Amino acid sequence: MDNPFRYGRIVRGKYFADREKELEDLKREVLSGGRVFLVSPRRFGKTCLLFNLIDRLREKDTPCAYLDLNACPDLAEFSGAVTAETARAIESNADKLSKMLATLTHLRPRVTVSPDGSMTIGAEMSSPSTDPLAGLIEGLDHAESLAARQSRRMLIVFDEFSDISKYDGEKVEKALRSAIQRHEHLSYIMAGSEQSVMISMIRETGRPFYRLGRVMELGPIPRKEYAEFISGWFERGGYDIPEGAVQRILDLGEDVPHNIQRLCHAIWEAARNDAEVTTEHIERAPFEIAQQDSPLYEILWQNASQLQRSLLIALVEDPGLSPLSKEFMLKHGLGPPSSIQASLRSLMKKGLVIHAIGGNYELTDGFMGYWIRGVLKKRSEL
Ligand SMILES: Nc1ncnc2c1ncn2[C@@H]1O[C@H](COP(=O)(O)OP(=O)(O)O)[C@@H](O)[C@H]1O
Ligand SMILES: [Mg+2]
Repeated sequence: MDNPFRYGRIVRGKYFADREKELEDLKREVLSGGRVFLVSPRRFGKTCLLFNLIDRLREKDTPCAYLDLNACPDLAEFSGAVTAETARAIESNADKLSKMLATLTHLRPRVTVSPDGSMTIGAEMSSPSTDPLAGLIEGLDHAESLAARQSRRMLIVFDEFSDISKYDGEKVEKALRSAIQRHEHLSYIMAGSEQSVMISMIRETGRPFYRLGRVMELGPIPRKEYAEFISGWFERGGYDIPEGAVQRILDLGEDVPHNIQRLCHAIWEAARNDAEVTTEHIERAPFEIAQQDSPLYEILWQNASQLQRSLLIALVEDPGLSPLSKEFMLKHGLGPPSSIQASLRSLMKKGLVIHAIGGNYELTDGFMGYWIRGVLKKRSEL
């Protein structure tokens, strides 16, 4: 049997755990023309949730367009993608789609042929001098009129929405807001990882997206449901799994779905021969994952300053202690608060450390902590 615990890509259908409540909730919002900001820390499963939502909506014949702002480096690309994806959601015939896009003013169809000969219809600015913002608004208005003509509701998803600020800021945001407000047949979901950025975009008065929609904060998957999913798969695979094992996995993964999937994947492989999960398999799994990812950690480590490394080590050794507290400074002797603060800032900028909701600083990638522990262990053995 193939390993059912998938990670590092979109997880769908029977490989996707729970989120029933969120799926129902979002479906209701979409079908009633709502606008939702979906926020959570990274790797909590926003993108997977959106793909599963889209699968369900399409089954019920609701057209959906998914846009990842991360994949669109500039506004022209974004405008083209929005226009093509929304039109494709309604019209799947390549010929008709191409003709439809040829009627636009600011955009024109773009045909790309992949090595296997398959053809994709996209859209691009009709000339290099075309204003890409005018193209974006035209594309969205076009989507509205397509949906209106068929009296259908269309969902448009903007994933990694906080990236919107890279397209020249306020002007784009304002134009987008008024287009969104004008559209009666389009529902929107804006998803973003950088929690604070997303929240300030939506909650600060005077910002273009202030109160444009409801905020849905995606938390961890409830333990009961996730535990049933995990033990269900191990049972179907014919594995024996000890009492309490799944709880331990959820603890080790700190309830982050990505981490839990990786742990379960590793445990499934380690226990494959005997079809029996042992405590040893579980406790070894995070170290094994850290080992698999070590080329990446090596590079990050090489690029960190001495103080940054010491700080990372101290954070791993003393996870409960604020690095700015007196106790921490006395214990680890890393110098004055100003230099610790500067190091923390650059570690956060690199994405290695986050300021967690509880107010503490921690490693973004928990497995990196296990890698650092491995380095320390090796050092102590030398
Ligand atoms: N409901 C779920 N069931 C199973 N795995 C999940 C689920 N949600 C997230 N994951 C795991 O977490 C990984 C990251 O999810 P992703 O949707 O990319 O998170 P985000 O978009 O919030 O950063 C996925 O590749 C998958 O392994
Ligand atoms: Mg995502």
